[in-house]
Amino acid sequence: MSAGQDGTESTDVVRRWRGHADDCVLLDGFHALKHALRFGASIPVVLTSDRRGVLELAADLAPDVAEALAAQAVEVPDDVLRTLVPRLHPTRIAALAVRPSRSAQLAALSAGSRSAPVIVLDNPRNLGNAGAVIRLAAGFGATGVVTTGTLDPWHPTVVRGAAGLHYATAVEQLAVGELPDGPLFALDPEGEDIRSYALPDDALLAFGSERSGISPELRARADHLVSLPMRAQVSSYNLATSVGMALFHWSAGHEFG
Ligand SMILES: C[S@@+](CC[C@H](N)C(=O)[O-])C[C@H]1O[C@@H](n2cnc3c(N)ncnc32)[C@H](O)[C@@H]1O
Repeated sequence: MSAGQDGTESTDVVRRWRGHADDCVLLDGFHALKHALRFGASIPVVLTSDRRGVLELAADLAPDVAEALAAQAVEVPDDVLRTLVPRLHPTRIAALAVRPSRSAQLAALSAGSRSAPVIVLDNPRNLGNAGAVIRLAAGFGATGVVTTGTLDPWHPTVVRGAAGLHYATAVEQLAVGELPDGPLFALDPEGEDIRSYALPDDALLAFGSERSGISPELRARADHLVSLPMRAQVSSYNLATSVGMALFHWSAGHEFG
């Protein structure tokens, strides 16, 4: 019998899920869970309504996490799992992970000897954009992603958009006045061409809101206003695309992996 088919165990594990749900981060689907496992998240409960399918997926796509998944994933009936998550992922697996402490995140973001930039999203509005940016930051090995304003960068939709890669970089919400030290490059279509700068490793790379661009407060804190090459008559790029281009520019000449 596979883990969890017994009715008593299923009830226990559902109780455990409910006990953690309020203060943990929802990892929705195989890829989010895979990344969280790879980057050392503490994961108290993993539920699936298709344990066999999930283990096959792991054997195929992520053998490095197959053993951890086999040890942790408990099977529950599909209708039970659907009562616990708002929208069950097609891979039919979900988990709860402990959110890293704010103090640990702030320590990483403000470390004196940062070897990769911090991305600052100034009052972002779109949860999907925030997720895509965290995924980019993780891929490029950025130190972290800071958001100003009201959007919660740990919102379940952001975690889903980032494929669980919040655990591969530091992610926090801060006011402009609380940003870490370091040279701040604000990205704005009116700035100087970014290609005339080598972006330093300890840079803060700041991007404006989808609606209104860089705020006056952030503009005042900026050391440089820089632009991405763009043809006349095009007003701007998408926020996440802009972050990708700036990180790509920073990465020239760097090795990471
Ligand atoms: C969708 S744009 C914001 C458009 C907004 N209507 C405005 O007034 O700037 C979101 C952010 O992406 C960055 N961005 C977009 N296109 C850019 C470009 N050509 N050069 C530099 N940054 C750009 C900027 O940081 C901008 O604030």
